[in-house]
Formats: sequence, structure tokens, C-alpha cells
Amino acid sequence: MPIPEQGESWPALSAALDAAKARDVSWRRGRMAVFFYWLDEETERVGQEAYRRFWTENNLGQRAFPSLARLEGEVVGMGLHLLRAPEGAGGTFTSGGSESIFLAMLAAREKAGIAGGNVVLPDTAHLTFDRACWYLGLEPRRVPVNADRVADVPAMAAAMDARTVALVASAPCYPFGTVDPVAELGALAQARGTWLHVDACVGGFLNPFLDGLPAWDFAAHAGVTSISADIHKHGMAPKGASLLLVRDEALRRFHRFESRAWARGLYAAHTAQGTRPGGAVAGAWAVMRHLGMQGYRRCAAQIMAARAEIAAGIAAIPGLEALPGTHAILVYRSLDPALPIAAIAEGLERRGWLVSRQAEPEGIHLHLNPLHAEVAADYVQALHDAAAEARGAAAPARRQEARAY
Ligand SMILES: Cc1ncc(COP(=O)(O)O)c(C=O)c1O
Repeated sequence: MPIPEQGESWPALSAALDAAKARDVSWRRGRMAVFFYWLDEETERVGQEAYRRFWTENNLGQRAFPSLARLEGEVVGMGLHLLRAPEGAGGTFTSGGSESIFLAMLAAREKAGIAGGNVVLPDTAHLTFDRACWYLGLEPRRVPVNADRVADVPAMAAAMDARTVALVASAPCYPFGTVDPVAELGALAQARGTWLHVDACVGGFLNPFLDGLPAWDFAAHAGVTSISADIHKHGMAPKGASLLLVRDEALRRFHRFESRAWARGLYAAHTAQGTRPGGAVAGAWAVMRHLGMQGYRRCAAQIMAARAEIAAGIAAIPGLEALPGTHAILVYRSLDPALPIAAIAEGLERRGWLVSRQAEPEGIHLHLNPLHAEVAADYVQALHDAAAEARGAAAPARRQEARAY
């Protein structure tokens, strides 16, 4: 389709965009538990207005826009404080969890100075690590987790060798919402002189407000080298906002590119991006300040209320089991062959819920938001009805493949 010869008016385009959206799943009605993060209209407005204020500004040009340098510094500073970083720590604002993880693996490789090294990670770690390894010529060594679905530290130690450039922990992991033993992995990393990255892309802005989690941040152990924490996830900011935080500001040089090998002189960047949206920084800054610690506590409380109500609904259906956990991620499965989970998933979909399927164990994966507290009762009712319908039914002939996203 070519670009139209004549430009179109905004009212026509606005109507076309609404029409294009007509078949999308309604996240506003809480009919999905993947892809979105949302607290309330006020926070949405704050993020949008702040983003708009810096819509045109390019954060590559901080000489022109010292405002963005200041806002970015303050966002990093708030993140370091929240994650209990020591004096002298530093950080980088990135476009998302994938970029934060990519930069962490790059820095670990460069610090170790080993080409073609390996990264030892629990097999629950996000596949973005494998993607980063692919880009960076590293070998991912996935180590099976233990019966509690957390990193098996002795097995990870055994998987390391002289070419290991990084260890990885998740806080929490995306498949199960479990938090790895970061303090033990920190001790292992320190003993071997290896970089330990904690992936708190999901948990960075939620863990501090939850009870009963094992230690997971910079204070967990001096061996924690870096942490990724996404502001565009439970930080509730507009998309395009994550932090890569490092224990020591000096470590940032390991993911800094610098060259003068062209006619334009010095080009240097700490990120994979060149041009960077100023709006993403302004949106994150405004949402973090708008919510404050109290707002994030409110978010966490609503998520936990949704979790408790949905978990109780699952427990009330004989044959269904929620996997143990205390996080925003809730996975459940069927233990009863006469109650195929795939048939339940189809029943939920027929009732208008977008189902996120778990591959192993076969189940249903929910990543809860504050919005789900409002629809938890509807979800439980739909689940109850779908289970009644599925009981005794054969599993669907054509299985849908589980997809993470
Ligand atoms: C634990 C974890 N790490 C990393 C990522 C990647 O983040 P992004 O999609 O922002 O690149 C995700 C995304 O869901 C995640 O759940």
C-alpha cells in the first residue's frame, strides 16, 4: 500500500484508527492478563501528558535538552534508591527489558574480556537472555530449576567454567512468578568473580511492595552486579521505559560504545538506541512522581487482592490447582484427566477472555494488574462455567500452541 498522494485529515484518521482497533481484545475491560499494565485514568493521563510535552525532543541530544538529562538522572536515582543500591551505583534508561538485558550481557562479556563465553542461567529465565547471547556470540547454558521452580544453585555452580561471563537470577521469572535465591547466587558470583545480573523486569517496581519475598535487590548480596527493572511494566509508565542499574557507576563503561571512525567526529552511546524518545523519560519521571510510594503500594495491594480472589476461585473447582506463588503471576493447571485444561482455555476464550497458555506444565498463565481486582469475580464465574462445560469433554482435537506472548 503506497503512502497516499494527498494527506488525510485527523478526524478521518482518528475514525480509521478506531475502526482498526475494533477487533482488538479489550484490555480496558480486563479481559486479558498479558501485554498491558494499567492502574487508573489519572495515572494514564499523567503519563500521556508528560510524554506529549517531550514528544519531539530527542534524548540523544542532551546538549540541547539538559531537561532530559536531569529527568533521566532523577529516574535512575529513584530506581537506585528503590532497589537499595549502594553509594556510587549508576544506571541507564533504556527502551525496555530486552535492551536492559542485552546491555547487561554485553557489559558482562566486555568486563570478562572473553570472546565466545557462556552465560549460566536458570531455565525459567526470560528467553531474551538467549536472544542477547545470540546477538553477542555467547552460549546460553540453561540449568533446570529445582522442585520449587527456583534456581538450583549447586547445579548452576557445576555448569560454570572458566569461560562463564555471567550468572543470571530472576525476580521473579516470567513463567512462574518465582524469585530465585539471589543472595546465594550473589555469593557464588562473588566467589568466582563473575557478573550476576538480576532480571527484575517484572518485579522491580512491584517486589518492594510485596510481603514475604526472598531478598532480591542490591542489598541481597554484594555479588549482585546489575539489575534490570522495567518502568513500563509494574512501574505503570508509558511503554519504552526500563532501567539497567549497576552496583558501580564505573561498570557502565562496559556497555558504552565510542568511536570517531567517520567524518562527524565523536559518537558515543550507552544504549543500543541512537535517537531516543524524550517522551519515554518524561512519562516515566511523571508517573513515578505521581504515584509515589503510596501509589505503588496501592497497585500491589490491588494485584494481591485479585490474586487471592482468583486463586480461591481456582481452589473451589475440584481438579484444578494453582501453582504455589505469591506474585502477580498466577499459573494453574488441571490434575484431572477428565477436566482438560485446553478445553477450559477454549471455554474462557468463547466467553471473551484472551487466554495465555502455559506450555510446561500445560496450564493457564495470568499476569495480574490492578485492573483485575475489578473483574476477578467475573473471571472466576467464567472459569467456573468453562470448567463445568469442559468436564468430561475430550481435550480439543487441535491443540493451540502455548505462546509466551
Ligand atoms: C522477566 C522478564 N524479563 C524481561 C522481559 C523483556 O522485557 P521487554 O518486553 O520490555 O523487552 C520480560 C517481558 O515480559 C520479562 O517478563
